[in-house]
Amino acid sequence: RTKRQAISAEPTALDPSQLTDVTLTSYCKSKESNELIQRALMDNDFMKHLEHGQILTIMDCMHPTSLTKGCCVIQEGDDGSTVYVLEEGMVEVTKQGKKLCTIGQGKVFGELAILYNCTRTATVTALTDIKLWAIDRQGFQTIMMRTGLIKLSQYTDFLRSVPSFQSLTEDILSKLADVLEETHYSDSDYIIRQGATGDTFFIISEGQVRKSDDNGEGKWDGFKASVWSNIFVLLVCSAAHLHIFPRSFKQLIGGLDDVNNKQYDSDEVKAKLQAEADYFSSVT
Ligand code: CMP
Repeated sequence: RTKRQAISAEPTALDPSQLTDVTLTSYCKSKESNELIQRALMDNDFMKHLEHGQILTIMDCMHPTSLTKGCCVIQEGDDGSTVYVLEEGMVEVTKQGKKLCTIGQGKVFGELAILYNCTRTATVTALTDIKLWAIDRQGFQTIMMRTGLIKLSQYTDFLRSVPSFQSLTEDILSKLADVLEETHYSDSDYIIRQGATGDTFFIISEGQVRKSDDNGEGKWDGFKASVWSNIFVLLVCSAAHLHIFPRSFKQLIGGLDDVNNKQYDSDEVKAKLQAEADYFSSVT
């Protein structure tokens, strides 16, 4: 299974209420430069988990700059204000006077101080004349946070569409959305094995799952936004899922409402919701 985790900007670095005031400017680039920047971002260990949309927006907002051989691009210990992608030339990375490495065309540098809101971890010097693409801290962090806020609102809408959660308040839904994690499964992946300790429950956002017994017998279930927990035995799935952890779920809502007090379309739906409610109340 693959898990998407966006790196979020440090909340102290930029006040979210200022987000609407920040205008992101895009800069025209050749197809080759766009590809070079995209590859560089996706190749960087600290940035490759960004959402594709974030990568495209960062690429779009990077502006060109150049420096001559011998110039100091980044000074160790300074406050960081810019992330760079090297388009042409070579730079050297040193820490306390000791050479760490050289960096060539198509690589990102200067990302650590911006991502982790720390001072520059090393000095970067131009070994040749260099051409760079650059994005400043405010633009970079705005892209990170806007995506985070959009995601939060999408997750809240999604949770609101789940029948079991319809009695929850907006406040709780948005807290739940905050702890929701997105995971993707491919066709034939196992999600839950019978007998495994249950610490997770799942909400199907796309695709179908199959619930089967030890003999592999079972039926497909593909209700959008239906809830699956470990009370159901073995699941084989065909596409994307969302899950959250019951511990945080229980802390937030303290279990689902009493199922007996409600009207349901069928005994099957009622039994399923009762089983879910029992499961959530049993989680410690
Ligand atoms: P930052 O700390 O913002 O500024 C200095 C940059 O040098 C840092 O981000 C990284 O991009 C880069 N850097 C620091 N240490 C290393 C290393 N050991 N190897 C390669 N690059 C590094």
